[in-house]
Amino acid sequence: MKTVRLSIIGFGAVGQGVARSILSKQEYLHKQGIDLCVVGIADSGGCEVNKQGIDLKNAIARKKQTGTVAADSDGVLDLINGTDHDIVVEATPTSIKDGEPGLGNMLSAFESGKHVVTSNKGPLALRFSELKEAAEDNGVMFRYEATVGGAVPIFNLIHEALAGNTIVGIEGILNGTCNYILTRMAEERMPYELVLKEAQELGIAEADPTYDVEGIDSACKLVIIANSVFGDNATYHDVDVTGITKITPEALELANENNYLIKLICEATEGKLTVAPRLVPKRHPLAVGGTLNVASIQTDLAGRITISGKGAGSIETASSILSDIVFIARNS
Ligand code: HSE
Repeated sequence: MKTVRLSIIGFGAVGQGVARSILSKQEYLHKQGIDLCVVGIADSGGCEVNKQGIDLKNAIARKKQTGTVAADSDGVLDLINGTDHDIVVEATPTSIKDGEPGLGNMLSAFESGKHVVTSNKGPLALRFSELKEAAEDNGVMFRYEATVGGAVPIFNLIHEALAGNTIVGIEGILNGTCNYILTRMAEERMPYELVLKEAQELGIAEADPTYDVEGIDSACKLVIIANSVFGDNATYHDVDVTGITKITPEALELANENNYLIKLICEATEGKLTVAPRLVPKRHPLAVGGTLNVASIQTDLAGRITISGKGAGSIETASSILSDIVFIARNS
């Protein structure tokens, strides 16, 4: 049995989802020969560190009761740098202004020789190549499946399953909030403000929902795809972005009468990144509804491959994080 020690930095919906999935997948992990031992958890209130392994059930319960797991005086960077472990799971809230605190946490992890698995989009949308280089310079792995498409394994699909193919272009729907709003407006003829409120209640919208509806969240995800797949050095400022705020019920109605839907489509080809509302035929593979995400990848050998699934949610995002952890455990 290989023991893999990890820290979880950020213990909100995603961090707790990771803890829950580690607990529920013990038997599976043991069958794979992997024993995951969480030696540190950090949230905005402080840290808990236990070199023998934290009782995750207890940590989740304490977080629920008191709002924090904080149990000792160590700071986050002390935990990342000073506690012996293998993988840092970085799941702090995202910032697309400066990428912090995630950016600093990830760079510290690499510098102290730890692999990083993250769901945090901001640092990757701003400083992807710097992070990738820091991982390479320190001989560790950098895995970020959960940053784009939640549970949908876009990077695994492209880098592992489609290895050998040249990726010609990728298009998709990468924001569940916008997809939910457009779906509800078209199907139920509900007003924009009301459906936006519903999306917020579902817990899928960003803390500031203008990031969703102005297309900024989609642009960040598209940038991560372009950098990862095409080796670009783009930031979200390089994306031509139009959001969904100007789409009227009349436009949706007109599209519907002609058997079309209006969707916020992200498109990456080598050298061009666009996020904009587009007409999509109702039977098209990109015509997924509700909060679903979809990515359609055009390749030279395999042709077009389209995958769809849940783009947000605690356990769904944890699914991608767990898969990255298992990848590192198997390959390190
Ligand atoms: N606000 C995002 C969305 C959350 O609606 O897709 C997942 O990144």
